[in-house]
Amino acid sequence: MSNDSDALVFFGATGDLAHKKIFPSLHALVARGALDVPVIGVAKAGWDLERLKQRARESIDRHDDALDKLLSLLRYVDGDYDDDATFVALREQLGAARRPLHYLAIPPSLFGEVVQALQRNGCADDARVVVEKPFGHDLASARELNRVLHAVFPESSVFRIDHYLGKEPVENITYVRFANTFLEPLLRREYVDHIQITMAEAFGVQGRGRFYEEAGAIRDVVQNHLLQVLALLCMDPPAEHSPEGMRDEKVRFLRSLRPLGKRDVVRGQFAGYRDEDGVAPDSTVETFVAVRLHADSWRWAGVPFLIRAGKELKETVTEVDVVLKRPPQRVFDTGGPNRLRFRISPDVGTTLDVRAKEPGEAMVGRDVSLSVHRQAAEDMEPYERLLGDALHGDQSLFARQDTVEAAWEIVDGVLDDATPVHPYDPGCWGPAEADGLLPRGAAWHDPEAEGGRP
Ligand code: BG6
Repeated sequence: MSNDSDALVFFGATGDLAHKKIFPSLHALVARGALDVPVIGVAKAGWDLERLKQRARESIDRHDDALDKLLSLLRYVDGDYDDDATFVALREQLGAARRPLHYLAIPPSLFGEVVQALQRNGCADDARVVVEKPFGHDLASARELNRVLHAVFPESSVFRIDHYLGKEPVENITYVRFANTFLEPLLRREYVDHIQITMAEAFGVQGRGRFYEEAGAIRDVVQNHLLQVLALLCMDPPAEHSPEGMRDEKVRFLRSLRPLGKRDVVRGQFAGYRDEDGVAPDSTVETFVAVRLHADSWRWAGVPFLIRAGKELKETVTEVDVVLKRPPQRVFDTGGPNRLRFRISPDVGTTLDVRAKEPGEAMVGRDVSLSVHRQAAEDMEPYERLLGDALHGDQSLFARQDTVEAAWEIVDGVLDDATPVHPYDPGCWGPAEADGLLPRGAAWHDPEAEGGRP
């Protein structure tokens, strides 16, 4: 018997996420023949099915056969999440479906109420549940959220979305690492000087001030996206070729990281943030953070891992930069260190910076980049990939409970006002204090600087 879900239910169907991400992804899934089950939207908006269809049309903004097909699969249930009548109506709409996938595109504070109501009304048996971030506010609340979900769904049925894991260039990191032999021996303390991850955004909080006030950069992107990326880059190769093998190695790596101390964190806030809608006039929430991490493991002991992320920075670019040690003896002229770089956005790239000889008599050279590089425009959207996987019951690209909690353990001691927040002007690379986290002689890599482009 197929293990695929036979209905997709999405709570929060009238919301922003549904409009921006979910409808376009469902459309793409239908277009490639990967979705052919009832799609039931649930929300409390006073809407009917026609209004939801209209919303889907607006969101997709293109008329084709796949849109007609998606509209024919759509159902709608309007009602409060605290009213059992909503779930009775949902059960009716589910009809003969036995293994629905429930996607909770709603605030986490409602998860408990909704999963219990699903169970009470016979909608949870053999079902799966997909939850959106933020997955907890700190370690304690993440544990509590897991407890609430596990009261109804076993871990094997819980799919926690971290959309970074569904990104093509993030998959590229895992692929390049384990599909080649030359790289694996290099990724260790004997050869790596330090690792930098930059996630820079040249825009602000884009009207999400209220959300951002509750989050800040550490919770918004470090605890989840960037620690996941670091884990994919640094984990040991999985012995077992299975989703769990990969996820086991990721959690082992995260557990080897020391919890962050105050000396390893620099927080910043861009000038003007306090004027944003929903932001307190005396807010100390960080819109920039740089952290320095250390792993206690034979593979990585002594290698600093530096992560910086921020809003209103100079460029919009996300890049992983593995800086290798210099040759032990100086035989020729030397340039920059060898680097292995993975570009995550706006384009997808893998680059190896090496030193090559200039033609001629003298043994002198220059720095060159060996690069595989392309635009990301044609890539499958993360939500399409992730929803497709969840419908098939494939958990590989979802965050497991232990990984999420291990990541919270790393940042738990430096959340909120544990460290001061330094102001910075929009359009720079964040507060200068972040330089103090770098190893001696190193600089933050500017992905757009000369030689920086893959
Ligand atoms: C989200 C954060 O999870 O990721 C946003 O909440 C951030 O603040 C976004 O801008 C970045 O993701 P992407 O895929 O747009 O680069």
